[in-house]
Amino acid sequence: MDAADMGRDLSNVLISEDELQTKIKELAGQIDADYAGKDLLIVGVLKGAVMIMADLARALHIPVQMDWMAVSSYGAGTKSSGVVRVLKDLDTDIANRHVLVVEDIIDSGLTLSWLLNNLQSRNPASAEICALLRKPDAVKVPIDVKYVGFDIPSEFVIGYGLDYAERYRNLPFIGTLAPHVYGGE
Ligand code: IMP
Ligand code: MG
Repeated sequence: MDAADMGRDLSNVLISEDELQTKIKELAGQIDADYAGKDLLIVGVLKGAVMIMADLARALHIPVQMDWMAVSSYGAGTKSSGVVRVLKDLDTDIANRHVLVVEDIIDSGLTLSWLLNNLQSRNPASAEICALLRKPDAVKVPIDVKYVGFDIPSEFVIGYGLDYAERYRNLPFIGTLAPHVYGGE
């Protein structure tokens, strides 16, 4: 799917496919260097992280294992509550393992902060975060994100794994939607 397929539903391309791929290679270079000689497990947070996991994993030169978690923050409304339910847990025992959580976006940071605490209670050798995107609100939660792709404005974005109502995940770029998509005509 590309911009032309979006027609008038697309407002803006915020980060192009080329910019994404260049950044992912850069992140992979840092991760290669930081984890050289170590046994690394990368953990993708479903479903938003599928694209970055697939591209990042292939850009890495170090051998990694891959696992997945699915979580949902519940509570009323569309904002994350910080109360998180695990829909799919890891298949892997992470005790004494180096773990890197790969996430699509940090908005409030509540989901990842919960997730990191949860993983830390399993006594990994280390647990770090790699997020493709970060919004300004994330500074409100004291969470240490080791790798960040792009800091973006506080706008709702779609594409490259990110959805609106489960759509637009298969765009190769990050974009914003035209207002009519949210609100009818
Ligand atoms: P938070 O950091 O706990 O507020 O929630 C982060 C999660 O909310 C992400 O993993 C996404 O699933 C979702 N999310 C936050 N901002 C956006 C956005 O702009 N587009 C699509 N999903 C988003
Ligand atoms: Mg997500």
